[in-house]
Amino acid sequence: MNVRAAALAKAYPFDEATSAFAGDVIGDLARHPKRLSPKYFYDATGSELFEQITVLPEYYPTRTELGILRDRGSEIAAIIPNGAALVEFGAGATTKVRLLLETSEFAAYVPVDISGDFLKAQADGLRRDFPGLGIYPVAADFTTPFALPEAVAAMPKVGFFPGSTLGNFEPSEALAFLRSARKILGHGAQMIIGVDLEKDERVLYDAYNDAAGVTARFNLNVLVRINRELGGNFDLSGFTHRSIYNRDRHRIEMHLISRKAQTVRILGNTFAFRPGESIHTENSYKYSLERFTALARSAGWTVRDSWTDANTMFSVHALVAD
Ligand code: AVI
Repeated sequence: MNVRAAALAKAYPFDEATSAFAGDVIGDLARHPKRLSPKYFYDATGSELFEQITVLPEYYPTRTELGILRDRGSEIAAIIPNGAALVEFGAGATTKVRLLLETSEFAAYVPVDISGDFLKAQADGLRRDFPGLGIYPVAADFTTPFALPEAVAAMPKVGFFPGSTLGNFEPSEALAFLRSARKILGHGAQMIIGVDLEKDERVLYDAYNDAAGVTARFNLNVLVRINRELGGNFDLSGFTHRSIYNRDRHRIEMHLISRKAQTVRILGNTFAFRPGESIHTENSYKYSLERFTALARSAGWTVRDSWTDANTMFSVHALVAD
């Protein structure tokens, strides 16, 4: 807990997670430019909205990655040793991991996620469908070091990090994550990772500015969450969603733009907004195959195989730990 969160915890009877949320929000809105961390998108409503995003006609990443995992299933299975433990960094919908579990002979599955509830629901469903599989959930923040369960210690390890979640990390964070995963999984381990690719800017723009406005609701929901959990008074009609492609930095940027001069109060703090002022809520980095290969190399991984769809929209890589 940082100093600000500790002071807030004293003044307000919050649990530890809410105190950390409060500390981050108050610190990040006091910065110039203002920002909010994308990790706070995912309350129950935000997670549901994200599931809706994944099936939007404009949002190509999820269905394209699933297509690659399906089409290349036998090639992926061929590089996975029998009796390995599959360690998934972050637990979302189980659709993708099921594809791997169906095609390869894994002995164990280790989903790692900060939300214990999510893990339990996920593990229960998989236990029913894969009765022979050992399932060992780990409730941890997968961006920081954690210990693997004793039960999988002697098994070969295969990491799984789908969805281009890596793209939501700053380049320095992406490097730190890959290094940490390399350390956790150990020498000789493998990792299957999904990475979104640079492409026509119009396609990228549309994927984050869908016609139905689901991405806008997803973005604005973080303000709803601040109002509900921290007693903020954001007027939602005073902010509008904006996503742009920043070509120089190879990233989609999501912003919430203030429509007018206004002030917002949160836990005794007042934040003033100018008309047109932005809260920067998310970056989604897009990689070339070369830039991703170089990143993986500097984190101690060798790219063994890379697969893309026919239109090179999305990539799935098999890495080996040096
Ligand atoms: C979770 N993550 C990979 C999504 C992305 O595409 O960066 C989050 C998202 N933001 C807006 N739409 C989807």
